[in-house]
Amino acid sequence: MKKIILVGSGKGGVGKSTVSVNLSIALSQIKKLKIGLLDADIYGPSIPKMLDIIEKPKVNESKKIIPYEKFGIKSMSIGNMIPSDNAIIWRGAMASSAIKQLFNDVDWGELDYLIVDLPPGTGDIQLSLCQNFSIDGVVIVSTPQEISLIDVRKAINMFKRVKVPIVGLVQNMSYFEKNDEKNYIFGKNGVSKEAKAQSLELLGEIPIKENISESCESGIPISVKKKSETSKFFFDIAHNFLEILPKFTKNDVKIES
Ligand SMILES: Nc1ncnc2c1ncn2[C@@H]1O[C@H](COP(=O)(O)OP(=O)(O)OP(=O)(O)O)[C@@H](O)[C@H]1O
Ligand SMILES: [Mg+2]
Repeated sequence: MKKIILVGSGKGGVGKSTVSVNLSIALSQIKKLKIGLLDADIYGPSIPKMLDIIEKPKVNESKKIIPYEKFGIKSMSIGNMIPSDNAIIWRGAMASSAIKQLFNDVDWGELDYLIVDLPPGTGDIQLSLCQNFSIDGVVIVSTPQEISLIDVRKAINMFKRVKVPIVGLVQNMSYFEKNDEKNYIFGKNGVSKEAKAQSLELLGEIPIKENISESCESGIPISVKKKSETSKFFFDIAHNFLEILPKFTKNDVKIES
């Protein structure tokens, strides 16, 4: 596995899973990169629905879980291993060990990037991932609203403390366009201003689009339709990501107890 990239936020419901899925597919179409997508949101896994993968995973001769291959990417989610309407009631330590298994017990094979869709928050799961694995970078997703940015700042501070490079910010739900007019429903450029204030990169922005929410529901991600106007936003983010990532060097993780 060459590089592990987290997609996180701090805040819930801002589009982490949408960005994880579409960034993964866009990257796999650029330069034919080999991409794995790991759903680390074990309490609310969205990837099985977004990729419309409902069957249980299979195991190979060496007892490793075989990842799914669909839309040109490999993927695995705890959501594929448990009945979809069952709540997971693991405590932090069990949750962290389940995620470790998704890393270690899945036969990911050769990958250029493993993209990890994080759950919301800055808790045990995020920390144990950063402590147990050598993470190459994190992409932070936020809406322009201050209510989202408050949690994003906490996440930024957490990633700085554990020395995970912040590749850049994605401004999701930037605006809603109607009759050629942009409506800034969640405020204008909150994320790009935050990026500037913190000297972080802005990887791109994504407007509110019906075909984005529809594609999450239908299980056919919008980036699969390479020529769609909407998927361009995700391809731009993927290109910027590939350009910016080499600027970061890996650091050793040390956590104060
Ligand atoms: N740009 C967009 N335009 C329209 N709908 C969007 C957009 N981004 C995300 N959505 C929708 O918003 C909802 C939340 O998105 P998503 O599940 O990706 O967020 P999340 O940050 O992963 O949430 P959670 O914290 O629960 O994991 C989904 O229904 C998704 O389809
Ligand atoms: Mg999610």
